[in-house]
Amino acid sequence: MARPTLPMQPTGWFQVAWSTEITTDVVHRMKYFGRDMVAWRSASGQVAVFDAYCGHLGAHLGYGGHVEGENLVCPFHGWEWNSDGRNVCIPYEDHPNKGRRVRSYPVVERNEAVWIWYDIDRRAPYFEVPDMFAAFGDGKTAADYYPPVPASTLYRPGLEIHPQYIMENGVDFAHFKYVHKTPIVPEFTRHDFDGPVSYVDFTVAFDDSADAGDINSGVESINAGLGCAITKSWGMVDNRTMPAVTPVDEYTSDVRFTVWIGRKPGDESPELNRYGKTMADFVIEQFEADIEIWSHQQYADPAGLSRKEFQGFTALRRWAQQFYPESAGATSGSVTDPAVARS
Ligand code: FES
Ligand SMILES: [Fe+2]
Repeated sequence: MARPTLPMQPTGWFQVAWSTEITTDVVHRMKYFGRDMVAWRSASGQVAVFDAYCGHLGAHLGYGGHVEGENLVCPFHGWEWNSDGRNVCIPYEDHPNKGRRVRSYPVVERNEAVWIWYDIDRRAPYFEVPDMFAAFGDGKTAADYYPPVPASTLYRPGLEIHPQYIMENGVDFAHFKYVHKTPIVPEFTRHDFDGPVSYVDFTVAFDDSADAGDINSGVESINAGLGCAITKSWGMVDNRTMPAVTPVDEYTSDVRFTVWIGRKPGDESPELNRYGKTMADFVIEQFEADIEIWSHQQYADPAGLSRKEFQGFTALRRWAQQFYPESAGATSGSVTDPAVARS
């Protein structure tokens, strides 16, 4: 069985839901990083993510727990927990138990999604989830795109995929022709792996129109750690995408993909229309082709890279190592010398 060999507890931001899935009415149950968790939304709209078990006697807060105002109420004895996971009320005592806590994860809602910060050593977040529009700085806003959720999303839970696979896809120029059946030759214009947020841009000249360096489109991507990537494509179908891979346990991850399709000029439909749906399905299909490979792949380490591949993959794999604290397992991701792989 093709199982991830990279550590499954990397540090970073990971998507655990789309925003619309977390309401005040239902305590949402989920499992990530081998832990049972709950997500809930307070009356004022703030989302919190906890370990699932009550700090009193350990009831699972997702089976009968409910939201009251800004607190989550346990179904067993009615103890109340605020969004930081602090006990704020014991209904049959004069005072809460101030020392008692449920583990609460840092949460942000951005790009229609709920993200948690996971760090095995419990360090505070040291980078951010990039905003799909502000981060590309081209003046476009969500209003220029059809609303993506839920109509142009893909959810594939429980796949044997590691978050790093999809990051490597960004520097993998050779797969386009084979996996995506698009005979493109990407020309990388930016490889910036200096910080925890990396940038990879490339332009595309289609094979049959490639004479005279005819560059007609490109992709920009911003990778915030291993769990969060946002991309902007220009020239082709005007779209932005957000692939997100979140480890569930030592072997599997949930994969989510959100696609924003640029509106046709003058089209103000409140929802994704037929045109948008056709385009979104096309983009999602391409991503599914990648998933088909990733979910059956056995991560190659060291990889047998060709000469042209060496630089991009090496930079990417070195960059990835920073997200594996020692306590998350052995670091991995070395590469072979290109001289060895040349044949
Ligand atoms: S176990 Fe939650 S209040 Fe007792
Ligand atoms: Fe791909």
